[in-house]
Amino acid sequence: MHVGFGRSAAADEREEFALLAESAGADVVAEVSATLATARPRYLVGRGKLDEIAALKQAHDVELLLVSKPLSPSQERNLERELKCRVLDRNGLILDIFAQRARSFEGKLQVELAQLKHMSTRLVRGWTHLERQKGGIGLRGPGESQLETDRRLIGQRITHLNKRLVRVDGQRELGRRRRTRQNVPVVALVGYTNAGKSTLFNALTKAEAYAADQLFATLDPTLRRLPLGDGTVVVLADTVGFVRDLPHELVAAFRSTLAETREASLILHVVDASDPHRRARRDDVDQVLKDLEADHIPTITVYNKVDLLTGTQGGESVELSDTGAVRVSARTGEGLDRLTAALVEQLGEQRIAGVLQLPPSAGRLRAKLFQMGAVSAETTATDGSWRLTLDMPKVRYERFCRQENLPVDALETARLN
Ligand code: GTP
Repeated sequence: MHVGFGRSAAADEREEFALLAESAGADVVAEVSATLATARPRYLVGRGKLDEIAALKQAHDVELLLVSKPLSPSQERNLERELKCRVLDRNGLILDIFAQRARSFEGKLQVELAQLKHMSTRLVRGWTHLERQKGGIGLRGPGESQLETDRRLIGQRITHLNKRLVRVDGQRELGRRRRTRQNVPVVALVGYTNAGKSTLFNALTKAEAYAADQLFATLDPTLRRLPLGDGTVVVLADTVGFVRDLPHELVAAFRSTLAETREASLILHVVDASDPHRRARRDDVDQVLKDLEADHIPTITVYNKVDLLTGTQGGESVELSDTGAVRVSARTGEGLDRLTAALVEQLGEQRIAGVLQLPPSAGRLRAKLFQMGAVSAETTATDGSWRLTLDMPKVRYERFCRQENLPVDALETARLN
């Protein structure tokens, strides 16, 4: 059921919702639209619409009703009672997709946590799996209702998951620090869901990561080394696909899987060139990057799937021939050499070298530069100040300056190209 408030649901919203349903593995047998002036408290929709759905349910033997707008827990329950089939709103549907696709240990923990939080506001269905894990028998205290037991179990499980997540997060942090120390720049692939990130990731690294013609094929960032051919090695990070109006339970849960994006030296923003809504998708992704405070990171726009563009389609569009952008087809391999060249230009070749003078009080900065492997020589002046000869990628130097509030021109530089 596509729901629109004050107007019928826009075509692209309907399309996206249908794609979400398909991604979850649903077999859509009927679609209804409901245009509502306001949400009705009991069933969201009015009686007439409800009867229409009930009739469709009869006719098609429907097992599941998907609703494109959020339902309150009681609306969900009322609809289920009335229609005698399962009912899921958009958030529940997205959670389900995430649960199906999580790959890494951390991703799985995060999805479960998000699901539990979603459930805890509902508490309508059984949690027998939780009881099994805890041994069930003897678990229920005397006089305690099922609902109280459920609440307690969920609370315990949430605490447990949070503790484990803290540990996993620590491990990720270690990996990140090691990469920083070894001076390995991270390149993050971001993009709207289904833009072709995993396919591009595989094509570039020639590795097998799960790619499917469905939304959210990637839930966990996958990191892989990518030699650029000029001696530079970068880490390529495949990230979770962005989607409009991500349920808030998931926004929180997935922020940390996007940590690589926040730390990246360069972002490859993958756009499906054959998508008629690509501009809107691009804006959606830009907004998420802004929310992640990653909008200052240099970005290359990568128009993917150019093999799907018919003759004039690509040529006509001004944005597609955008000079900073690279056009590729992850499927046919077209343009991948240009993309690698663009990466080399951004990261490999653009190094910065020069002498940085630090006062004796700046011991911490000096230590940090050494730790980053950026210092190639050092002399100490009689007044105790240091003259450090630096050689490092430009993007890393600029990031260092930003973090330390140093003016970028503090370095008496020679740019090496
Ligand atoms: P999420 O993980 O959901 O964010 O998706 P993704 O951006 O990682 O997309 P994925 O790589 O899974 O690709 C989505 C679909 O697009 C798959 O069916 C790919 O085969 C297809 N695809 C990817 N790149 C190309 C391309 O260059 N040309 C064509 N024709 N199809 C492509």
